[in-house]
Amino acid sequence: PEPGWTDTVDVVVIGSGIAGLTAALKARELGTVLVVTKDVVASGSTQWAQGGIAAALDPGDSPEDHLQDTLVAGAGLSDPVAVRALVTEGPDAVRDLIELGARFDTAADGGLSLTREGGHHRNRIAHAGGDATGAEIERALVAAVKRAPDIRLMEHALVLDLLTAEDGAIAGVTVHVMGEGQLDGVGAIRSRAVILASGGLGQLYAATTNPSVSTGDGMALALRAGAKVRDLEFVQFHPTVLWLGKSAKGQQPLVSEAVRGEGGFLVDDQGNRFMQGRHELADLAPRDIVAKAIMRQMLASGKDHVFLDARHFGDEKWRVRFPTILASCRSHGIDPVRELIPVAPACHYSSGGVWTDLQGQTSVPGLYACGEVACTGVHGANRLASNSLLEGLVFAKRITNSLAAKLPEFREPAVDARVPGLVDADVVPEMQRVMTVGAGVIRSASGLAEAGATLAKLIEQPAGEPGTPGWEATNLLTVASALIAAATTREESRGSHWREDHPDRDDENWSGNLDLTLAAEGD
Ligand code: SIN
Repeated sequence: PEPGWTDTVDVVVIGSGIAGLTAALKARELGTVLVVTKDVVASGSTQWAQGGIAAALDPGDSPEDHLQDTLVAGAGLSDPVAVRALVTEGPDAVRDLIELGARFDTAADGGLSLTREGGHHRNRIAHAGGDATGAEIERALVAAVKRAPDIRLMEHALVLDLLTAEDGAIAGVTVHVMGEGQLDGVGAIRSRAVILASGGLGQLYAATTNPSVSTGDGMALALRAGAKVRDLEFVQFHPTVLWLGKSAKGQQPLVSEAVRGEGGFLVDDQGNRFMQGRHELADLAPRDIVAKAIMRQMLASGKDHVFLDARHFGDEKWRVRFPTILASCRSHGIDPVRELIPVAPACHYSSGGVWTDLQGQTSVPGLYACGEVACTGVHGANRLASNSLLEGLVFAKRITNSLAAKLPEFREPAVDARVPGLVDADVVPEMQRVMTVGAGVIRSASGLAEAGATLAKLIEQPAGEPGTPGWEATNLLTVASALIAAATTREESRGSHWREDHPDRDDENWSGNLDLTLAAEGD
């Protein structure tokens, strides 16, 4: 739509989780900063993070050990140089967060209380409020942003598209401010640089731990602007999401890996501890291995969940260490102090995303990306637990350091000749159903082809009305199609990509990352 208003700012940050707010707090040293966020500032995924933030903060730990665990989880596709940046800069990034005001839980000796999660050989997960780590981090970051009068915040504003100059470089964004008239609310903001920090794509699937705002907007915007995306086939399913029945849809309650880190364990409906003997770390094996073991168990038993047993924690430990999970279980009629918790895997995290170099620069000049929307090379085929908050911190700072060295010039936006192809918001439930069945935990060529064919039909349905639901649905379908293309291409099983028709890891043919652009995808 034609913009009804215009604005100019040096740096636009899209998204207001740990990555976006960290970037904004640093970018204010470079010029004027505007944070655009689709809902209220704290509504993204960060505030839902439970387990914590991983960093080698214990004297007995080292960045090298953290690097090894991250590379093993990444199943051969992480970039060791990016991982080294993450693990060596990580401890200071967490200390900076504490300096900013985030209050982490401490041990009896006054040092940080550190726990363990899947794939970690050491206790290196810092946590806050027991299991409310993300909420505390987001609180501290929002408070810091609100103390910074030079950071402008635009809430309830959906970025529609990236503006690009004739040569493809970034010139700004178009935004729809909700609450305004559907078209009056659309404006154009010119900027020297855009930092995408808009989070993930969990709403592609019927059940997810992600909030409703996680509609893949950043990946879709970047694809439409010609950016390269990488590793899109690696969607992580969290093994232990509270099972609320077959028809549960949308955001589901997470039961943190830290519950297993503190001694909880998985059992089948006969009470057998099925993770024992499957992996040296048993219940604390990397997330993809646990999720697959649960799926196998469910397929063998014909049941749609397994159980997590942490009754031995007792009332006191549940109350102090896991207050959020205790409350969410009890609100659904399950008392984890006395009962087994029914759990099943659900979509949790996109390990791939918009490709960036080590400074967070995408393949489009002037466009940077950090946090879940980005693929910095850290996660490879499967993100290590609690590395996501850390990645948001470390790479947001890398972006602003590189912008400090050279802030791009303002560019003249080219006339956008694209015809907007809006899909109807009503297609979303069907898209989620086919993505869950055909491109979920277990995939095959035929299942992916079927899902792809349905997506193609949904895209062809009569166009929807301009407005947030239609724009989000369009973004979801754009990302879903790219994900299906990537998952179809990778004919092997690796990390969180599990093909039942190609059940083994195939290093001879598939040891590289898969890149996609929108143009290449349509070729
Ligand atoms: C959890 O608390 O289990 C989630 C941690 C993560 O996704 O890194």
